[in-house]
Amino acid sequence: MITKAEQILQIPSILRELSFHYLHNKEDSSFHFVVVIEQVLADLFPDLITKLQDASITSIKLPNQQQLKSVSTFEDLAETLLSKDLKKDSVIVAIGGGSLTDLVGFTASVLLRGVAWISIPTTFLGMIDASLGGKTGLDTKFGKNLIGSFHMPKTTIICSEFLSTLDPLEIESGYGELIKYALLSKEIEEQIKAKSPISDMIHAAAQYKLKVVKKDFLDSDERRFLNLGHTLGHAFEIYFNLRHGTAVLWGLYWEHYIMDQPLVASKVLDLAAILGISLTPNIDITEFKDFWKYVVHDKKIAASKVLELPLMNDNGQPIKFKIALNDFYKKLDSHAKKLLA
Ligand SMILES: NC(=O)c1ccc[n+]([C@@H]2O[C@H](COP(=O)([O-])OP(=O)(O)OC[C@H]3O[C@@H](n4cnc5c(N)ncnc54)[C@H](O)[C@@H]3O)[C@@H](O)[C@H]2O)c1
Ligand SMILES: [Zn+2]
Repeated sequence: MITKAEQILQIPSILRELSFHYLHNKEDSSFHFVVVIEQVLADLFPDLITKLQDASITSIKLPNQQQLKSVSTFEDLAETLLSKDLKKDSVIVAIGGGSLTDLVGFTASVLLRGVAWISIPTTFLGMIDASLGGKTGLDTKFGKNLIGSFHMPKTTIICSEFLSTLDPLEIESGYGELIKYALLSKEIEEQIKAKSPISDMIHAAAQYKLKVVKKDFLDSDERRFLNLGHTLGHAFEIYFNLRHGTAVLWGLYWEHYIMDQPLVASKVLDLAAILGISLTPNIDITEFKDFWKYVVHDKKIAASKVLELPLMNDNGQPIKFKIALNDFYKKLDSHAKKLLA
């Protein structure tokens, strides 16, 4: 479910209303909420912290210098939450970007064998993707999101006012995921072409994602197409240290290009250009073996020797494309070399 907040300072009162709705607790609603917020946001929006305090809601501020989606941050957060007397009927509220909502969602899924949570995304990418749909995750040195769970937030409160303080490069990163949706949904493609207001695009993308998640929560069929561009995207993200959505944009282009879907690949470039991004993805991979291990991080893929790539074909149909790992390796290797030459 999506709840809209016009302004950031409405959030404490919305939480209170939600507690009546979900927890059927008319007396002491604030007691049940523990907010986990990025320190940078607490600094940017001090009035929000004051309002939460006024509503007797505890806030835990996570310093931004540490890797949010790591096992060690998870351990610290879990212990801090337990020290705040977290109970089975508490609700953890995550306020932050996709990294924070992935961390907090995961923590909520395992603490006390599962506590309810609410996500409040503060980045564009979080509003259209990461905070919705209940996939949670931590990164490890072996790859991204290799520890994780499915744990749906009770609701996602979207307040686009948070975007006012966001670095433009983070908006650009969110556009990567938006273009993914545009390949899947004509409505979103048209919105981009019509240069619709960002709040309309957020709404359409969030609704689209929830529709897919409702049909396939456990990611066994249709939800896989929300991973368009992510096989190479995740590898680009780690290898080149790119923002997630930026890496997905590269992934969308390269997966379709090397799998011989040139019309889709050029649509990616055209939509990026409308959004003001000139995409010159240079896959200058000097250590190809290093890069490859991020593509084949999944033991199941390595064992089956076949990669299943969700793609759009040039006729606009979603397809799950099976390709032998060896063949994919050769295709990718030849492009990496071509660009290096
Ligand atoms: N669970 C999912 O379904 C899913 C889907 C897509 C992406 N993700 C994950 O999301 C993560 C990326 O999330 P992201 O793009 O939101 O980046 P992020 O969470 O890393 O945030 C980017 C930066 O913006 C800052 N920030 C956040 N909100 C701000 C605001 N309002 N004003 C100023 N600064 C702000 C953060 O402190 C951080 O420095 C990746 O780890 C990715 O794997 C998860
Ligand atoms: Zn993504």
